[in-house]
Amino acid sequence: MTQPEKLPLVVLISGSGSNLQAVIDQVAAGLPAEIRAVVSNRPGVRGLERARLAGIETRVLDHKRYPDRESYDLALAGLLSEYQPKLVVLAGFMRILSPQFIQCFRGRMLNIHPSLLPKYRGLHTHRRALEAGDTEHGASVHFVTEELDGGPLVLQARVAIEPEDDEERLAAKVLTKEHIIYPMVIRWVAEGRLTCRDGQAVRDGRVLDRPLFLMDNGTTEP
Ligand code: GRF
Repeated sequence: MTQPEKLPLVVLISGSGSNLQAVIDQVAAGLPAEIRAVVSNRPGVRGLERARLAGIETRVLDHKRYPDRESYDLALAGLLSEYQPKLVVLAGFMRILSPQFIQCFRGRMLNIHPSLLPKYRGLHTHRRALEAGDTEHGASVHFVTEELDGGPLVLQARVAIEPEDDEERLAAKVLTKEHIIYPMVIRWVAEGRLTCRDGQAVRDGRVLDRPLFLMDNGTTEP
């Protein structure tokens, strides 16, 4: 039997890379993708070490060496084109991308965000959820558009906020869910089950007018 073609990926990081690790682990377990490179805008971060340990090529493109966003993003697009990724995976890449860059990878770039979008776009999501007295919080995977944390949603996972949760505890709980939902969504793309068409996420032929949710038994709904 012929093996399905592997989806070429490039993963962009800025820090710890625990989501990168989750993807690396799933690829090792058979997710039909190939991480061609891991790119960080910060040197010396743990995610780069994780990539090296997995035998993946690493590149550092330090934003401090570029005078402005446009020149950085141009260099980044050039670097990515060396690897011909079919999917660009933002995994804790802490930079706002210019519209020109996003245009290059329209419908082929995913992000994971630590909130139940559209709630709490931007930073400090855990703190904001706690301060608002929310009873639940979570994470979202979405396609990237020019709107910050505003592209078509694909999959979300919820966690309950408990009285003993502080920012750190809540972040850790959300991260464990992130590590499940991000590889899941990447698998759907790799298996040809998920695309972004005309600004809409389409899974198994159905337009997702609202995000899918991860259930406790590991399935997704609706
Ligand atoms: C995650 O919470 C992700 O949702 C956000 O940045 C964090 C990255 O964590 N975009 P890690 O580097 O994957 O550990």
